[in-house]
Amino acid sequence: DLSKFPDNYVNCYKYLYDKLPNELKSVKMAIVCGSGLNNLADKIKNTVTFDYKDIPGFAVSTVAGHRGKLVFGILANSPVVCMVGRFHFYEGHSAQKVSFPIRIFRMFGAKVLVLTNAAGGLNPNYNTGDLVIIRDHVSFLNFTGSNPLIGQNESIFGERFPPMLNVYNHHLRYLFTQAAAQCNYTNLKEGTYICLSGPSYETPAEARFFSTIGDVVGMSTAPEATVGNHCGMQVIGISLVTNMVNQKPTLSSFKSPEEIAAQNYEAPTISHAEVIEVGNQKAKILEGIVEKFTEILEQN
Ligand code: ADE
Repeated sequence: DLSKFPDNYVNCYKYLYDKLPNELKSVKMAIVCGSGLNNLADKIKNTVTFDYKDIPGFAVSTVAGHRGKLVFGILANSPVVCMVGRFHFYEGHSAQKVSFPIRIFRMFGAKVLVLTNAAGGLNPNYNTGDLVIIRDHVSFLNFTGSNPLIGQNESIFGERFPPMLNVYNHHLRYLFTQAAAQCNYTNLKEGTYICLSGPSYETPAEARFFSTIGDVVGMSTAPEATVGNHCGMQVIGISLVTNMVNQKPTLSSFKSPEEIAAQNYEAPTISHAEVIEVGNQKAKILEGIVEKFTEILEQN
């Protein structure tokens, strides 16, 4: 009954619903593609595609490497919806705006939410290119006043004070490990995701701090997971480690240029281009595992 939903959600839902064929008017799963992982959408068949700029209530993603389109279609015999490019808090969108699409997906019937992202590796046992199943998160957005659920509670979606004890669904995580094994992927890790607002990357001191509380660090996913959990979705998050995070102390003022040179000190760098490049290289693997995961889910 659409009359129970707030107008902005209804407008968006109707806009999409009217343009979809019957077999896509309800979906089982929603997928969000992270940086460099847009090709995930290429496996989807019988697609209907929308530009974010045309969808009422959607923001427009502005980051290079994040295209902005919403793809409905069939993946492994399942109707799905896929965000190719997501919204980030650092673009200036509120946490509510960033996670708006998640509730739309719930209205379309999606029970399962697959969130992918590119992230920096903090855990020394990780390597660039590893896939990490998110077991839990620490969201600096959520405890610094940018929780997406701040504001009037939309009780049609969920309760005022939602528990966050099982945000990343155990059963889905288990099925994902099965999917990865069936794809002969052997570098699967599991860890805690630290969510920052960005856009600046972490300092070495921040990185050392984060490494005591988590395994990967990124600028997305937690808002969508929070909203997905609120409206009763089963969430799974996957990080692709696109760079290992530098945790070395910065230069000491006690050291002369000669001492520094003698240590072969190299100024650390990290770039968005690197993040996108690793994403693109590894997208194929993740694509295959997500497809297999969808197939396994269909049978369970
Ligand atoms: N996304 C990819 N790498 C990252 C890093 N090192 N920190 C935050 N977000 C990232």
